[in-house]
Amino acid sequence: MRQLPPQIVPGQPLTALAPMQDVTDLPFMRTLGPFGAPDYFFTEYFRVHVHSTLERHIVDSILQHGTGRPVFAQIIGESLEHIERTMRELARLPIAGIDLNMGCPAPKVFKKNVGGGLLREPAKVAGIFRLMRATAPTLFTAKMRVGFEDARHFDELLSLVNEHGVDLLSLHARTVRQLYRGEPDYSWIRHAARTARCPVLANGNITSADKAVEVLAQTGAAGVMIGRSAIRNPWIFRQCRERFSGGEIFRPRMADVRAYVDCLWAATAQPGLPELCQVPRMKKLLNFVGQGVDPEGSFLKEMRRTVTYGDLMRVCDAHLVENGRAEMYFASEPHANVLARPNHEGPEPDDAELPACSL
Ligand SMILES: Cc1cc2nc3c(=O)[nH]c(=O)nc-3n(C[C@H](O)[C@H](O)[C@H](O)COP(=O)(O)O)c2cc1C
Repeated sequence: MRQLPPQIVPGQPLTALAPMQDVTDLPFMRTLGPFGAPDYFFTEYFRVHVHSTLERHIVDSILQHGTGRPVFAQIIGESLEHIERTMRELARLPIAGIDLNMGCPAPKVFKKNVGGGLLREPAKVAGIFRLMRATAPTLFTAKMRVGFEDARHFDELLSLVNEHGVDLLSLHARTVRQLYRGEPDYSWIRHAARTARCPVLANGNITSADKAVEVLAQTGAAGVMIGRSAIRNPWIFRQCRERFSGGEIFRPRMADVRAYVDCLWAATAQPGLPELCQVPRMKKLLNFVGQGVDPEGSFLKEMRRTVTYGDLMRVCDAHLVENGRAEMYFASEPHANVLARPNHEGPEPDDAELPACSL
């Protein structure tokens, strides 16, 4: 069994930032670092097809994140020829490993039999695993869901994980058809953790350090992979480490969240990027932050209507700083009926109404 890179606190369960297209980019990775980096980062996926070249902005996230933590480069594709070529290109980068996406539920993706679509075809997965194991310059990891419509191929897929020596398996405990709805079924993670020879990361609705501890106890997984809750609460990986060591957990106040908003704004700025293009990017991130602000969702409602930087910051100040709010605690779990929309891969509806941003 190949060694995984050491975690920040030796002996603790692993923590990883889930790959999120258009979110876990360079600005977000840079922002997360000072709040408490995860043990491992996973990039947004590199598309692999006949004409593909490594997307520059994802390469930059590997080269310039500056957190000192290992990064796994995720790929999405199915052609052996083009996967092999992409792996040769990725081998030149300082990555800890290459991760295969077997979970993306976007119809335009799975209809091409890539991402979550691969889960319908274990024979194809076997071919890709064989190639990736033979040619991986470093570690070879996979991220998958329990199946496409149901878990009918799950055991076969886990056998392939063992047969082809996958080094780390991240498991989102839902099917592709379930998208992001409902509670994940963590019993599948327990099954995988018992069956797979490699460490398994539990993924899906790990919303807090307490939930991480609960899911680890329930599943016996080697660690947790956290996505949307790391956007809402960038302290979550630090809190996990504090919780795992039995220490006191840092509890952010609204003023801390306001400072986080400033960090996100500074990180998402690019020379020449017009304000009207930066605001929608910020709103995409604040969409998740809003789930911890107020149980009625007023922050989200007002935030979504803003167009300019000034308006956006006025809404942030009103909800996070003014009228004694600065000292209030930020919710440790997302408020139950406050939904981030959209909360998955795909274009932001607001973007359609805005000028094209070419940067
Ligand atoms: C906006 C967004 C983009 C995503 N992009 C990817 C991706 O590029 N690759 C991938 O494997 N999963 C992707 N996912 C799925 C997440 O990695 C993760 O499996 C899922 O969000 C469940 O974890 P969570 O409940 O902690 O967010 C994405 C999810 C979201 C919300």
